[in-house]
Amino acid sequence: MIISSISDYREAARRRLPPFLYHYIDGGAYAEYTLGRNVADLSQIALRQRILRNVEALSLETTVLGQKLAMPLALSPVGLTGMYARRGEVQAASAAASRGVPFTLSTVSVCPIAEVQAASAAPIWFQLYVLKDRGFMKDALERAQAAGVTTLVFTVDMPVPGARYRDAHSGMSGPNAKLRQFTQAALHPQWAWDVGVKGKPHDLGNISAYRGSPTRLEDYIGWLGANFDPSIGWRDLEWIRDFWKGPMVIKGILDVEDARDAVRFGADGIVVSNHGGRQLDGVLSSARALPAIADAVKGDLAILADSGLRSGLDVVRMLALGADCCMMGRAFIYALAAAGEAGVANMLDLVAKEMRVAMALTGVKSIAEIDRSALVD
Ligand code: FNR
Ligand code: LAC
Repeated sequence: MIISSISDYREAARRRLPPFLYHYIDGGAYAEYTLGRNVADLSQIALRQRILRNVEALSLETTVLGQKLAMPLALSPVGLTGMYARRGEVQAASAAASRGVPFTLSTVSVCPIAEVQAASAAPIWFQLYVLKDRGFMKDALERAQAAGVTTLVFTVDMPVPGARYRDAHSGMSGPNAKLRQFTQAALHPQWAWDVGVKGKPHDLGNISAYRGSPTRLEDYIGWLGANFDPSIGWRDLEWIRDFWKGPMVIKGILDVEDARDAVRFGADGIVVSNHGGRQLDGVLSSARALPAIADAVKGDLAILADSGLRSGLDVVRMLALGADCCMMGRAFIYALAAAGEAGVANMLDLVAKEMRVAMALTGVKSIAEIDRSALVD
């Protein structure tokens, strides 16, 4: 099929993946209103078209959290990435490194930290979830530091997993999940051979490394609910901040007061995010939450933003709303599922190209120049 956009990759991923995996990626919480608004609100941000401003020498380069990036974008952490393509975390991290943007490894990845970092030409970022077994946290941070990970992304909007209706219907969870997953895999032989057979072991690599035994994936959603620690509070973060040597970013902020707390706490950055509409349905889209947060904390720490970005044009919109850097989750996962490492690299090229066009037509030549003056009213 012809691929000219991220939505083409979404369709290609839908064709290739067993439905239980496609819907786990594509879906959100409850009736998916917030998921829809993330995309719809961004699409309604109107930019000013400016002309005759000599936009020949455009640059997408920027520095975020002390790191030079080829463009203001990082890949969001996505659980089970190694189920969408063979050793998927390794492939996506390699593509990101080749394009000069950071890859963030999820706590609940298939490939463990050491495997991904060893295969990546650049330092990856590591995303931490706190488990009830608190010993895991120290172990994971030590492994990340030993592997050479620079930046820690601490995700705070999932003390409990959101209610995802699609997962029960798709066979991701619910009755006979294992049988249904097996049947779906048999009907998707390309995936079954490439990922299902050759992509093993299929387990939560970081957790298995800590426990010394494989973590089975049959009841992944149930496992998240049983093992994530909802008792986590700001005080728990102090230990992490003192332990971690590099930049620490808090991901999952949607409220101005929480953003101010992150500054008081001493975070190096925040990610304005509603987890891609996968947690509390009904909360604001990132595009709508961002301007007030930027008004409150811009300049005090790095402001990253994700949830709903599906093009380079969307990146420019988020920057205009106040972000210093953006992240994308589903966009790179669709490309990875469709075409592996080459797909992610091509998707990043598409985003860069779309950013260049958006910048040229709004009359800006550098990332630093993109601000609210690019917006209509
Ligand atoms: C996620 N997200 C996520 N976030 C995180 O901190 N740790 C994780 O393990 C996961 N897992 C995960 C799985 C899947 C399938 C998706 C789609 C998302 C959230 C992710 O990092 C990011 O915030 C959203 O994906 C951003 O929204 P978009 O770009 O997908 O619209
Ligand atoms: C999710 C988790 C794993 O969104 O963050 O499914």
